Amino acid sequence: MVNTSELRHRKLGKKNLPPHVKTQVKKEKPSKSCFPLMLFAVITSVAAIMVIGYLISPIKAEVFKDVQHVPLTGVFSVNEKLSKGVRITGLPGPESVVEGSGGKLYTGLADGRIVCIHPSSDGEIGAGKVENITTGSIQGAAMSSDALGHGRPLGLRVIANTLYVMDSIYGLYTVDLITKSTNLLIAPDAVTPVMKFPNDLTFSADGQTVYFTVVSSLDGITDVAHTIFRGDCTSRVFKYDLSTRKLTLVLENLCTANG
Ligand SMILES: *[C@@H]1O[C@H](CO)[C@@H](O)[C@H](O)[C@H]1NC(C)=O
Repeated sequence: MVNTSELRHRKLGKKNLPPHVKTQVKKEKPSKSCFPLMLFAVITSVAAIMVIGYLISPIKAEVFKDVQHVPLTGVFSVNEKLSKGVRITGLPGPESVVEGSGGKLYTGLADGRIVCIHPSSDGEIGAGKVENITTGSIQGAAMSSDALGHGRPLGLRVIANTLYVMDSIYGLYTVDLITKSTNLLIAPDAVTPVMKFPNDLTFSADGQTVYFTVVSSLDGITDVAHTIFRGDCTSRVFKYDLSTRKLTLVLENLCTANG
């Protein structure tokens, strides 16, 4: 903004003005001539931020090649069955939900707990009381990262009265659904490089072998944004023989193997 007395001074020209007014007039530059300079400064700053960001970035992004798309047909075909469901509130971040005997549902929560959602007294699944099965912490157990301060059960499977849990912090453990006791089978540091982000599990048809995924050797679940932005290709699949307790690497260098 230019006040009226300054405008008058400009009209009069510099010549006849007292010295203090001259400097005032000199300082004021027409805004048009500033524009290229400002544009240059903005472009230079943005470029500098990008270069510095690239240099100090904790991630190195990879390009996914040969991505194969699964056709959404058969069991994968789009449906709206879930829209008929009833929302269960008060349970933060359930990742994997499995059904045990008697219509009981089990899921792992963001605070590390595993809970059982009982059926209602008239048998409606998911409509009964919620019971804590674990506390979310395993005393003295090794952790893939202690940033959370508790476990994060992601993959769950139930076989008879045993719940198999792939926890991104503690690794693989079982929970006896009768006694609720926890038994750690594979800690994150059981292999090299250590499992930073254990994720999900499944069983062979005979129920003797557990196959599980580890998303990353670089970042844990608290740095999941790094995993996403880098296109992390350090994922591995392991198999674990329940009777011999032998752990074997099956596949490696997969890109962000989730479930
Ligand atoms: C289950 O655990 C949570 C978190 O510790 C607690 O707030 C809640 O009261 C517990 N529920 C029962 C039924 O004990």
